[in-house]
Amino acid sequence: MGSLSIQQKIKKSRKSNLDDLPLNEILHGDAVEMLKTLPSNSIDLIVTSPPYDEVRNYNGNYNFDLHATGEQIKRVLKDGGIAVMVIQDQTKNFAKTLTSFRTIVDWVDKIGLRLFETVIYRKHGTEGAWWKHRFRVDHEYIPIFLNGDRPQYFNKESLKIPSKHGGKIMTGSGNRRTDGSTTKTVTRPINLMKCRGTVWNYLMAGDKDPLKRQHPAVFPDQIPYDFIQCFCPPGGVVLDPFGGCGSTAVAAKQDRKSTRLNSSHIPLSRMPSSA
Ligand SMILES: C[S@@+](CC[C@H](N)C(=O)[O-])C[C@H]1O[C@@H](n2cnc3c(N)ncnc32)[C@H](O)[C@@H]1O
Repeated sequence: MGSLSIQQKIKKSRKSNLDDLPLNEILHGDAVEMLKTLPSNSIDLIVTSPPYDEVRNYNGNYNFDLHATGEQIKRVLKDGGIAVMVIQDQTKNFAKTLTSFRTIVDWVDKIGLRLFETVIYRKHGTEGAWWKHRFRVDHEYIPIFLNGDRPQYFNKESLKIPSKHGGKIMTGSGNRRTDGSTTKTVTRPINLMKCRGTVWNYLMAGDKDPLKRQHPAVFPDQIPYDFIQCFCPPGGVVLDPFGGCGSTAVAAKQDRKSTRLNSSHIPLSRMPSSA
């Protein structure tokens, strides 16, 4: 589709099928316009972090239409596909903008995606804060949106974490019933590994990569890698509409899955040479 104008590509995408989906490409352009060029029901997983509030100035442009982005994301996702968004709210005059929460409600109520879960990205190694009247913010939100009734793929094995008392024998009562009573006391070994909770811990975003650190707003490669392992079926298609320096693409390539991403602003190139 290289020499076609965006409008021609959008027109063509309406008639296109999965064979027309460009694989392992960086599509340069505005995210919403480029999403419109992709066929419907073609993407397994989206892992992205959009521009929001006035946190960063991209080419002098602060405002971004997150509603239009959500509409296109819903259209391109397969049934059971997942969209993951890393986002925080800006603080203005001692109050949060609530863009993250508003976007979640908008995408669920107005666009028809469903909120599977919201994970907290606990950022270790955040820079010091000099404000006297605010906390140092060391987390972001990761709402996980589901298109359809249930995830088409879910495998949390690689996300398991060590159990503190793994290998010991535990004696205790079981779960509490709805009426408040508890199930009978049981004795059983504690598994060495347990299911991860909803607070996910990562080192700050630079991945010890001086090139990656030049981008002002990246997330660590491990975030998309974890979501790909959990929600993308083998051979599935991963997309990041706000590709930045390509963290999602790098993670998808590590996993030998197909990636496409588009961004109007790719200041750095760190795609693997095989991409
Ligand atoms: C929060 S950053 C995402 C960084 C990315 N997750 C990474 O780890 O490199 C948002 C990105 O969106 C890009 N962007 C800004 N406006 C855009 C637009 N209209 N269309 C596509 N991308 C845009 C910015 O250039 C920036 O790289």
